[in-house]
Amino acid sequence: MTESSDTVTPRGQFITFEGGEGTGKSTQVAHLAVRLRAAGLTVTLTREPGGSAFAERLRAIILDQTVAPTSPLAQALSFYAARADHLDVIIRPALATNQWVLCDRFADSTRVYQGAAGGLDQAALGALDTLVVGDTQPALTILLDLDPKVGLARADRRRQTAATPGAFLRADTFEGRHLEFHQRLRDGFLALAKSEPHRIAIFDAFQNELVLADQIWRHVSARFRLAAS
Ligand code: TYD
Repeated sequence: MTESSDTVTPRGQFITFEGGEGTGKSTQVAHLAVRLRAAGLTVTLTREPGGSAFAERLRAIILDQTVAPTSPLAQALSFYAARADHLDVIIRPALATNQWVLCDRFADSTRVYQGAAGGLDQAALGALDTLVVGDTQPALTILLDLDPKVGLARADRRRQTAATPGAFLRADTFEGRHLEFHQRLRDGFLALAKSEPHRIAIFDAFQNELVLADQIWRHVSARFRLAAS
């Protein structure tokens, strides 16, 4: 008897998580990894900027307010340099061996932070993306949408909890901007989702963490026809 298509192990997929500050991406990406592994799939969990040794070094520089590049162009080039290595060393090899790759932020962050909100020309970003990402585009992007006032308050609480007593608390380069910039980020992500509805799915990040994790799992399992668990 041949296996029915429902029981065949699905091909590895590339899924990215996007959103503004404090939207809970890292938490939700971890929940999805647990669900996929429980379904018997091999998962590579990674993040940007970072993911490979070189890209993690660049991350430390890019996010350090004292040395970070200031222009949106220099920032975009730095993010894409890190991304090129991340794709070569981690993402493409994992996909080639049928793993599921979950990435906390990817190229949409550059489109929105440096492009829509930072003012960098979308055509320049498009050219960089073709060169660096090429065909390795995410099959699905989970956009966590949240009022930036709520997101920034969450990010503040996270910093305070993580800090040792008496440590100097400072927002990293990109979190430390004013509310209006964060509103532009939210609008930029929503506009992107509207322009690519087949790839980008929007979720309300204000709701309870576990309820949201369930919602994301239902979406992923339906889209890729995984047996629900
Ligand atoms: P991170 O600590 O990963 O923030 P978060 O928890 O919000 O994901 O820091 C990454 C920061 O870098 C974040 O502020 C967004 C910014 N960023 C860009 O501006 N462009 C990019 O292409 C990427 C990947 C991140």
